[in-house]
Amino acid sequence: MPIMPLAARGISTSRLILGCMPFGGSWDRAPITPEQVRKAEQALDAALSIGISMFDHADIYTMGKSETIFGSILKRRPGLREQIVIQSKCGIRFGAGAIPTRFDFSKAHMLAAVDGILDRLAIDYLDILLLHRPDPLMEPDEVAEAFGMLKDSGKVRHFGVSNMSPGQIRFLQRALSNQLIVNQLEMSLEHLDWVDQGIHVNQKAGATVNFAEGLMEYAQMETMQLQAWGPLAQGRFSGRALSDQPANIQQTAALVGQMATTKETTPEAIVLGWLMRHPALIQPVIGTMNAERIVACRDAERQALAMTREEWYTLYVSARGKNMP
Ligand SMILES: NC(=O)c1ccc[n+]([C@@H]2O[C@H](COP(=O)([O-])OP(=O)(O)OC[C@H]3O[C@@H](n4cnc5c(N)ncnc54)[C@H](OP(=O)(O)O)[C@@H]3O)[C@@H](O)[C@H]2O)c1
Repeated sequence: MPIMPLAARGISTSRLILGCMPFGGSWDRAPITPEQVRKAEQALDAALSIGISMFDHADIYTMGKSETIFGSILKRRPGLREQIVIQSKCGIRFGAGAIPTRFDFSKAHMLAAVDGILDRLAIDYLDILLLHRPDPLMEPDEVAEAFGMLKDSGKVRHFGVSNMSPGQIRFLQRALSNQLIVNQLEMSLEHLDWVDQGIHVNQKAGATVNFAEGLMEYAQMETMQLQAWGPLAQGRFSGRALSDQPANIQQTAALVGQMATTKETTPEAIVLGWLMRHPALIQPVIGTMNAERIVACRDAERQALAMTREEWYTLYVSARGKNMP
């Protein structure tokens, strides 16, 4: 059986990741409430109960509150930190308000950002640090210096990127002594550009596809773990009210529901299983805080293994809302 790129790099963890972006509630500097901590702990426990052992953060999520809440839970649970893989991101800065206004891969910013992350999460090291969004002013040698310092000090074990094209990754990688092992992008049954890009080569329809050419193949050739943010498409195929949604979404949600009933599983498992069926062995980063919905994702990997080519294409063509070229 093929193994996940992260496993090939010696990181043993779950296929599913819990995205911790909503742990801190609103994106402001309001104080953290006991209710927010309680809900986050419920979500964490639901994730652990179905074998999720990897957690995704970013320094900017709810302006640091999500990491602070996660850290407060870790402090009360000795031993948990060593059982899980913690990933966070840096490289985006806020301006005056809660809107990110600058991308920043300067050495000074990255070093300070990682210190802040470790402090809020109350941990000594990050398993994986991702660069959140490509900084046009990125200087690979400067990033290499920062990564080298973070690695040598033991603060970060592995590095990766998010929302980057193969060209940007290659540009950065040639300066680094540490291998970039992750790329995290938006991919789902709703956000289909990651599949459309490959099938519309040499087609006018390809002009509107919004995904870097060759990215899926590049990741597989480089043993780079692809992670999908937004994998549940905010619940569009698994129970969210759809009256405002286009016909292809409504029709696909109905198909997902029928498939879930036939296979005696949940719509969440079908939606995630569809994504995980791809040979790149994508890791979905689920963003629900609802404990029941987290548990409803339990069967996703099994559904991926059981999903036939015919079923996969049926869902893809329905969600595309147009025929294959
Ligand atoms: N790298 C990047 O640039 C980037 C960008 C965005 C996010 N991320 C990461 O990816 C994670 C997931 O992203 P996401 O939140 O967009 O993903 P998602 O898993 O597709 O969506 C989760 C959202 O959908 C809602 N939802 C799910 N099922 C629902 C249903 N049946 N009915 C109503 N609402 C439903 C959830 O609400 P409930 O909580 O109520 O279930 C939650 O607000 C984030 O936490 C973060 O870690 C990364």
